[in-house]
Parts: sequence; C-alpha cells; structure tokens
Amino acid sequence: MINTENQSFEEQSLDNTLRPQSFGEYIGQEKIKRNLDIFIQAAKKRKETIDHVLLYGPAGLGKTTLAHIIAKEMGVNIKVTSGPAIEKVGDLGSILTNLDDGDVLFIDEIHRLNKLIEEVLYPAMEDYKLDIIIGKGPAARTIQLDLPRFTLIGATTRLGSLSNPLRNRFGSTHRLEFYTPENIERIVKRSASILGIGLDDSGAKRIAWSSRQTPRVANRILKRVRDFAQIQNADTITEGVAEEALSLYEIDYLGLEPTDRNILETLIKKFKGGPAGVQSLAAVTGEEIQTIEDVYEPYLIQIGFLARTPRGRIVTKEGFSHLGMEMPEDHQDKLL
Ligand code: ADE
Repeated sequence: MINTENQSFEEQSLDNTLRPQSFGEYIGQEKIKRNLDIFIQAAKKRKETIDHVLLYGPAGLGKTTLAHIIAKEMGVNIKVTSGPAIEKVGDLGSILTNLDDGDVLFIDEIHRLNKLIEEVLYPAMEDYKLDIIIGKGPAARTIQLDLPRFTLIGATTRLGSLSNPLRNRFGSTHRLEFYTPENIERIVKRSASILGIGLDDSGAKRIAWSSRQTPRVANRILKRVRDFAQIQNADTITEGVAEEALSLYEIDYLGLEPTDRNILETLIKKFKGGPAGVQSLAAVTGEEIQTIEDVYEPYLIQIGFLARTPRGRIVTKEGFSHLGMEMPEDHQDKLL
C-alpha cells in the first residue's frame, strides 16, 4: 500500500480532488504556513515576486500542495516538473523561456537534477538570465537571454543530496514535519466529507493511528477502508470497521506494514539488530536502497524504532519490543 515514487494516475487524481486550495484549508505545518504567508503578503505589497522557496521532508507531507497554494495566493500560474523529467539543458531552457512574469516553477525531486542542468539553473535563479551555447567547437558562441522574473519552488525528500550552490540560491528553506494524530484526524474527516464517505469520530481516530502521521497515507487508507465498508454494507466507517479492514490489509495500529516489519526483523535476525549498512539491508530484504531511505526509514526513525548511526542502521529497544523480540544485553551500547 505504500507508494514509493510514482503515484498511479488514480492516486494523483485523488490527491488533486482532496488537495486544499488555500492556507485556510490546509491543516497542519503551522510554522511554514505563517512564514510563507508573510513572504507572500509582503511581496504582493511591494508588487514583487517572492524569493525562491525550498521545501523538504518525507514523501506525502504536502510539499506539492504547498507549492500550488503559494502560486494561488500570489495569483500566478504554476508550471510543474521534476528533477528526473528534465533530461537535457534544452528541456530546462524551453520551460524557463515559456514562463510568464511572476510565474511559479515547481521542480519536484530537485535533488535528482543532473549537474549540467543545475548549472544552467544558477544564473536563471540569481539574475534571470539563460546562457545558451550556439554551435560546436571553436565556432561556438554563448548568447544570453533575459528570463521573466519567476519563483522557483524546489521540493526534495533529501536535503543532504542537494549541492551547496543550489541550496544557497533559495531565499528560504522549510522543513515539513510529520503530522499530529489530531491533525491527521481532521484531514481524514475533511477528505471523507469531500468524497461523501460516512466516517464517525472513532473511525477517524482509528485511521489516523495507522496513517504514519502522513496525509497521503491517511487518504489512501480512507479509500481502502471505504472499499471494505462497502462490501460489508456498512454505511459509516466506525472504529470496528476500520480495525477489521486494517487487520485484513496487515497494517498495524502504528501504521507498520509487512515491509516495515520485514526490515526490522531482518536487522534483528540477520544483523543482530545492527548496525547494518543500507546496501546490505537492501540486498537481504530485496527492497531498493532508495525506497528504504525515502519511504520506510523516515517513519521508523520518527517513531523511534530505528536509529541511523555512522556505522549503519540499528533497531532500538522500542523496535525490538514492538516485534515482541528480546533485545540482547549488550545491544543498548551500540546505540550510544
Ligand atoms: N489533504 C492532504 N493534506 C492535507 C492538509 N495538509 N490539509 C488539508 N487537507 C489535506
């Protein structure tokens, strides 16, 4: 049920239906909303564009949604692309030259931009100039085009993978936090009401517990539980209905799924609880390194079941106890 990178078309359209359209509708991330709102109001007063914005944090917390809201609040268009989608320098050139004054350019997974393209982006971000090389060899010349004043919004799950020159060119950097259970509850209730799904307080609470503190997961679970309720002829999702559906889907009350448990179990059984490098862990579990790093680890670390140390990943005391496994005497020392 966990989605790694590419969402299906169905999920994207679900996301779009449920996506809040303004800061007023957006639940959670209070600090970021407050800061961005100040930037936007101030820029509008000066009749300027806002500085480039970098958003980072685990997948599914609302980076794309915030980018759309920023554009909407500024009253400008947004052009959406992603690091891996920009393959050639020319691709970026055509995106930039097609922007209008004030537009927002959103680049998702910006850490995956290739180096050559990144270098074209620097003068574009700083001076709104595009350097184009015409011709080849000794006859090659560079011409410089003026670009519209645009705002770049970059999103990444990995701040550490961004080069310093790129990172430094953003006017502000914001880290999205995992959501509180109360906010996830409010989000699933809002989504249920938009989708016309009957959901009572106890059902919303139960879904929130298993949603990995992540709105995208909460909305996905809501839909799956709705499917289950429908075949049971239950017109309202109660705690009981949600509980039954979640156990059928093998999602536990903390939102852990078979793969999460497999990662922890592998570390315990094959690596004595760790430390183990992510490469070894990927090889033994059969998961991709990137999926482990971007999808599974952040939440396991967030709930304190896994620690990342310079020597590798280690299961914590809480991780052992969640799986009902005994922690060896000397294990605690490895965590120090
Ligand atoms: N749907 C998904 N994320 C949301 C959020 N942060 N606020 C309201 N609805 C949402």
